[in-house]
Order: sequence, then C-alpha cells, then structure tokens
Amino acid sequence: MSHHLGIHDLSFATTEFVLPHTALADHNGTDIGKYHTGIGQESMSIPAADEDIVTMAATAAAPLIARHGSDRIRTVVFATESSIDQAKAAGVYVHSLLQLPSATRVVELKQACYGATAALQFALGLIRRDPTQHVLVIASDVSKYDADSPGEATQGAAAVAMLVTANPALLTIHDPSGLYTADVMDFWRPNYRDTALVDGQESINAYLQAVEGTWKDYTEQGGHTLDDFTAFCYHQPFTKMAYKAHRHLLNYNDRDTDHHTITQAIGPTTTYNNVIGNSYTASVYLGLAALLDHTPDLTNQPIGLFSYGSGSVAEFFAATPTPDYHNHLHTTTNQHTITRRTTIDYPTYLQLHENTLPTDGTHHTTPTQTTGPYRLAGINNHKRIYETR
Ligand code: COA
Repeated sequence: MSHHLGIHDLSFATTEFVLPHTALADHNGTDIGKYHTGIGQESMSIPAADEDIVTMAATAAAPLIARHGSDRIRTVVFATESSIDQAKAAGVYVHSLLQLPSATRVVELKQACYGATAALQFALGLIRRDPTQHVLVIASDVSKYDADSPGEATQGAAAVAMLVTANPALLTIHDPSGLYTADVMDFWRPNYRDTALVDGQESINAYLQAVEGTWKDYTEQGGHTLDDFTAFCYHQPFTKMAYKAHRHLLNYNDRDTDHHTITQAIGPTTTYNNVIGNSYTASVYLGLAALLDHTPDLTNQPIGLFSYGSGSVAEFFAATPTPDYHNHLHTTTNQHTITRRTTIDYPTYLQLHENTLPTDGTHHTTPTQTTGPYRLAGINNHKRIYETR
C-alpha cells in the first residue's frame, strides 16, 4: 500500500535578541539602502550568551512533542553546520532535554545549508520503510562572520523542527528530486574557526549554477513543468538571493523576468528570513513556514523548494499543501517567536559576538539572558551543561 509522505507539523525558534540593520549601518557608515534593499535584510537574530544550536533546537521541537507525543519517534536527525562537538551529535542533548525514549537513533548531518534537506529526504526513506514511524528532523544554526566583514550583515540564527510522517497533515513531499553537486570554495569553515569564510560573489554564482543544475536534473527526472508551480521557496542566505535565484530560473526557461512577477512569486517566502537573518540549514524551511503563513490558499498546489549548501550540494523538489493544511498552521505563535525578541544596540551585539566559552576545561557559568524554556547554563570540564525551565 502506498502512502503520502511528508511534513506533518513544523515549528521554529529563534534567539532572545535582535539587532536592527540600522544599528549596524550607523556603526559602519553603510547606506541603509544597501541592507534593506540591496541584500533585503531588516534585522538579525543574535543568540544570548546562554543560547546555542541545542537550546534553539529543543525550543523548536518541544511543541511538536507536546502536540503529537514521542511514542512513534524512533529517529532524530539534527542538521547543522555550526556544530558544537566533532564527535557527539547535538541531537543527543535535545533527545535528553525533550525526554525522548531511549529506543531512538540520533544522528547529526552536515553539508552547509543543505543539511536539513538531506535529513528530510533520509527521513522520508525511513518512513517509506515503516509508515508507522515518525522522524524528528531538526535544522539549527547560528550564522556568524567576522565583525566588519561583508558577511556580517547576513548573520542570523534559528532552528526549525519538522515531524516527518506518512499521511502528513501539512505537506506531501514528492519525487523526483533534481540534484546537483559541484566542488567549489564559496563558503567554508575549517574546524579551527568559529566564523565562516566566504567568497560572496563566488557563492552567489555557485548558487545560481546550482539552481540551473538542479532544475535541469529535475526536468530530466520527469518532474513538474515550470507552470505547474504556484510558488517557489529558495534558500535565503539573505532574502535578495531568492529574487536573484528566481530571476535566473525564469531566464533559464526563457520567461519574462519583470520585477512585479518575481516579487509576487518570492515576497511571501521572505517575511521571516528578512527579520531573522541567515539561519543556514533552517533558512529554506523558515521560507516555507512564511509562505504557508502568508498566502491565502495553497491547497493542492505544488510549491518548488530549492535547497543549497555551499561547497556545494543542492536539491530541487516539490511539496504540496494538504486540503486541511490551514488547520495545522501556527501563524500567531510563529509571529510571536519573532516579536518576543529584545532589541539590542551595537555595543551589546559586539560583546555577544566576541563572547566565547573557555576552551581550557575550567568551570564557567553563563549569565542568565534568555527567557526561553532551555538554556546553556555553562561549561565544566569541557562538558556543556543545559537546563530546562
Ligand atoms: N541602496 C540599494 N542597494 C544597494 C546600495 C544602496 N545604497 N548599495 C549597494 N546596494 C546593492 C548592490 O547593488 C548589490 O545588489 P546586487 O547584488 O543586486 O548587485 C547589493 O546591494 C550588495 O552590494 P555589494 O556591494 O555586492 O555588497 P557586499 O560586497 O558587501 O557583499 C554579500 C554582499 C551578500 C556578497 C555579502 O554580504 C556576503 O558575502 N554575504 C554572505 C554570502 C552568503 O551567505 N553566502 C552563503 C552561501 S549562499
């Protein structure tokens, strides 16, 4: 018997603090038009000293457990490119914070911003094998570049948690996928660095090549035609990138690329990323949440999702909202997640940006800054200590 497989429920979390781009522009003398229009960013989420990818991930996933229980979750896949440990999966901390059953497999996945899509596809494979199981997929990242570097304005942080099941309430995910891998050095973070290195222009070009490459493969694999799609949701390292991507796809297909058409197609997907900033693996799924929350009706209409991870690996695939999806949205909660953040000034941001945990094994207690349900209380003997409120 064949089942529809896909995303049953989706929840996201971001940080305690937010820095408006006006504050960054005042500090570095940049014309605010470059941030607001040029890259399409209004503000960026900044983690408190007691927040990290684990606290955001647990905060994002907790409502899914509250709504659907954990009995059927036998796998947790945690996608991140801002990992906190070279060996232990961050998902194991989340498993513990959420008190998930011990009969669970937990693993961490990495391929830059593409990791969550790999996690989603692997989850679908597991569900296809046993449709009674649920897989918890979590994408959690902190995007961090050096202060005063070009990437600084594209920082951000968030976690998206998705419950992947058979007969999903929210979205069905379809075969085929269009795939594309190319060995490029557009963005990378060697193990000895806290901040990413990026060749901005190279990353934009590599991304656009990947749009073309995935679309070509998607078509060859027998996917939908361009006109079958009602909406397109692109990975957004900065929201302007989605506009560039869609224009590139339309050009590649010899279509009109007037600004109005592109704005109509892409606008609704950018409303969360525009104020949260880059959340790497979570970004395309925040775009999806924004699209579902801000479009009147997408029932049974295919959405094209494009996931890109520098380095690079990309995938294009289709998802269709179910007839009942409206009853499973959490738009008010999602908006509150964004509006509850406290605005900080540039000096406070810089202090948090430069803040590091000790690496010598000494005991360190983090200041209580977050008001969220999970916090990083400190580190002792090289072990992170988390607490639940
Ligand atoms: N008003 C309106 N627009 C303005 C402006 C102003 N005053 N000043 C500049 N701009 C526009 C530019 O024309 C440009 O638009 P375009 O890309 O459509 O041509 C845009 O703002 C950015 O300007 P640019 O000079 O290219 O900025 P930059 O050298 O600081 O680099 C990024 C911008 C995005 C490349 C840089 O922030 C970066 O490296 N970010 C990280 C990239 C990334 O995340 N990659 C990850 C993998 S996808």
